[in-house]
Amino acid sequence: MTGGSGALGGHVARWVVGEGAGRVVLVSRGGSAPVELVGELEGLGAEVVVAACDVSDRHALAGLVAEVEAVGGPVRSVFHAAGVGQMTGLVGMTADEFTEVLRAKVTGADNLDAVFGDRPLDAFVLFSSISAVWGSGGQAAYAAANAHLDGLAESRRARGLTATSIAWGPWAEGGMADGTTEDLHRHGLVALAPAQAITELHQALAEDETTLTVADVDWERFAPAFTARRPSPLLSELSDVRAALTQPDEEEDAGPGDAAMLLRKRLSSATEPERHRIVLELVRGEAARVLGHESSDAVKPRRGFVELGFDSLMAVEVRNRLASHTGLRLPTTLLFDFTSSAALAEHLRSELAQDMSAAAPVTSAITELERMLSGLSTTDVDRDDITERLRSLLTAWGVPSAAVTPSDTPTPTTAEVDPALDAATSDEMFDLIQREFGKS
Ligand SMILES: NC(=O)c1ccc[n+]([C@@H]2O[C@H](COP(=O)([O-])OP(=O)(O)OC[C@H]3O[C@@H](n4cnc5c(N)ncnc54)[C@H](OP(=O)(O)O)[C@@H]3O)[C@@H](O)[C@H]2O)c1
Repeated sequence: MTGGSGALGGHVARWVVGEGAGRVVLVSRGGSAPVELVGELEGLGAEVVVAACDVSDRHALAGLVAEVEAVGGPVRSVFHAAGVGQMTGLVGMTADEFTEVLRAKVTGADNLDAVFGDRPLDAFVLFSSISAVWGSGGQAAYAAANAHLDGLAESRRARGLTATSIAWGPWAEGGMADGTTEDLHRHGLVALAPAQAITELHQALAEDETTLTVADVDWERFAPAFTARRPSPLLSELSDVRAALTQPDEEEDAGPGDAAMLLRKRLSSATEPERHRIVLELVRGEAARVLGHESSDAVKPRRGFVELGFDSLMAVEVRNRLASHTGLRLPTTLLFDFTSSAALAEHLRSELAQDMSAAAPVTSAITELERMLSGLSTTDVDRDDITERLRSLLTAWGVPSAAVTPSDTPTPTTAEVDPALDAATSDEMFDLIQREFGKS
């Protein structure tokens, strides 16, 4: 077990011993292992060897394997969990740092592959990461190193050898992700309970998988933020991701909500410069709220969102808030397409103007109709005839047909008709029509 002094190494060691391994070799550069772990493993009846070895040194690794096998017989399974984490953007990284990140993972894995050669093993397990599957900002070298593990597993299989590379999401309770799980959770990555992760490891080996990704992802949270800067063809093949990315649009099909109606009302009675100011203040206010500022003064109109500290998750949150305030369909890339409050406000203003102008002639005709209807007395018109015409209009407009009963179709069954509408008197229908069209 390389990385035997690490968090995952400990969990795996407990599991293999629990499964009947008679001897475990815990390898790390430091050559230490928690005393409690060793005691626990020995208590379960296993022999524990704690060895110091840098796995990137092939000669030293071959020597360790020879030594271990001379005393206790052939190694049956290899678990490669040695590795170092990384958090530097690609542009800020030096070649030395890159090499260092690759050392344990890549060189170590290649050395294990070479040292064990064509010997049959029960398992050859590589601890990879989701950063290798879909990328992770600031982890370019780490992602590349893990991707190498996935490639090595494929290469070993092609050579007729066993290999399983598991790209893990974050684990809970210690290890490399320690201290970041809360932030990761906020982004939709839920830390795996070690017991659950070990069950998945067990299953992957039982099913003889070659490469596998095991992560607990809240796609509704993760997918919009992950695709805020660019689409992900890989993830969009997952049905949960497709649902997470299309859901807001479907909700918007219900039409603008109360906040959006209010904004549109304000804009329609405002002058052009006022409109500009209203929308700009809306954008700055929402941006400030998501950034945690008390006032929108902190969001200067021409300052870039990225410069102000926006990450993808925050960008999606502002987009969601603006979508609900404007009633517009807005892409998750919004804050990366229009990179300052001023640019975004300008875009929203023109979108709103377009949206409002399409409905404007209709709403003014309805206002006129409302005015005419309210001026009619009950005695001087045939209200039933007008009611029927309005019912037909509602049906054509898309009010569910079961809710409106046209005069020239057979009377539907009770179950098909909205009881309230069916029983509505002409006066009530007039009220309803006014409310419905008043909303449009
Ligand atoms: N924890 C997670 O959430 C998570 C998620 C995805 C993938 N993974 C992967 O799972 C593996 C284990 O993670 P972890 O959380 O248990 O990490 P960890 O607690 O930081 O342990 C890393 C282990 O690797 C050893 N190591 C580092 N460089 C080595 C080298 N050149 N030769 C030999 N041993 C070396 C360390 O000991 P020394 O420093 O003494 O050498 C330590 O035992 C890593 O490869 C990691 O990338 C972890």
